[in-house]
Amino acid sequence: MSSATASPLVTPLTASENSKVDFGASISGINIENLTDADFDIIRSALYTHQVIVFKNQSHVSPKAQFELTQRFDPAATSYGHGKTLDAKRSILHPDLKTIPHQPQVQVIGNGFVAEYEGLTNFRLRHPHHRTFHATTIPAAEDLDCTRFYRWHIDAALYGDLAPPVATTLLAVRVPSGRRQLCRYDDGSADVLDVPLGTTAFASGYAMYERLSPADQALARSTLVEYAPHPYIWMSGAKSRPDGLGMVSEGKELPLDTLPEVEEDKIQILPMCWRNPETGKLALQVHPSAVRRLHLGDGTVVDDLAEVREIVHRLQRPGIAPELVYAHDWEEGDLVLFHNRGVLHSVVGAFAEDEVRLFRQCNVAASHFPVGPEVVEA
Ligand SMILES: [Fe+2]
Repeated sequence: MSSATASPLVTPLTASENSKVDFGASISGINIENLTDADFDIIRSALYTHQVIVFKNQSHVSPKAQFELTQRFDPAATSYGHGKTLDAKRSILHPDLKTIPHQPQVQVIGNGFVAEYEGLTNFRLRHPHHRTFHATTIPAAEDLDCTRFYRWHIDAALYGDLAPPVATTLLAVRVPSGRRQLCRYDDGSADVLDVPLGTTAFASGYAMYERLSPADQALARSTLVEYAPHPYIWMSGAKSRPDGLGMVSEGKELPLDTLPEVEEDKIQILPMCWRNPETGKLALQVHPSAVRRLHLGDGTVVDDLAEVREIVHRLQRPGIAPELVYAHDWEEGDLVLFHNRGVLHSVVGAFAEDEVRLFRQCNVAASHFPVGPEVVEA
């Protein structure tokens, strides 16, 4: 049966027994290489309703079609989500991505040696490992059995004119076969999550918001988040909390006068809650490791970095509880589209040197910034 002739079908993902995940859906019967406007309307509505959309058996999809699907959420957007900021060799994002020469908005990520792919030859990919980013690490002897959330984040430059992308797509080209790992939070809780090797973990910003107390919801609605200038260079000396949800405060962020030139008007100050354009719901959307200051509704600016991080972690941590995390079990050909303004996501896992994983990632910096709550309360 050709997917071009079947009718589109949106099926919510079924959560496993102990899970309280209430997002995620699969879509079948859509030809991504030849998307009609009607198809795209279904995808768009499904994305804003379910946040994470899985298309199975998409190995044939070209980088161009992947880009066009991703860009269609914001036709005025053209550049990769981080623009040219990845050129900065000091950015923590720099080693993890290779750009497809003929489709520069699409990046290749993964693990291991690849002889040839889409015009790239003889290159080595490196799956981000928590030992390069966390303040504490899992002992080497346990490394293939146990893992961590590497870094919970939103795909976003968070400085300059580049607005957080609306959507990101990930296509699994090669996936090493199926062992599982225990993802440990190691944050003083006993929380653990059994995950497939190399899963991508998603947590809903809506669930994160909905679980807050009424007082914290009011705080979240009325607070603006100021991000560090050149955040991925700024944070490059610092280390992450063990749960991957923000940094520990040891004064290791790079001094601002050692960063590339900082232009005050390029510093991004964004609402703490982002409103869903279709449902109107609020997602608690903060990039926890790039946060620098909080602007409270009463005009107070919280600029003690340790205090800022404690507040953000206290608000976000309940939302990444094991039962609220969707850990996608990748199969070759899976194309996952996620609402980058409604979920946080994290790389997970520790691969052996010879476990080759090849993915394509695409997002485009948006032409507009996310919108906050309708009424900002004082
Ligand atoms: Fe990402």
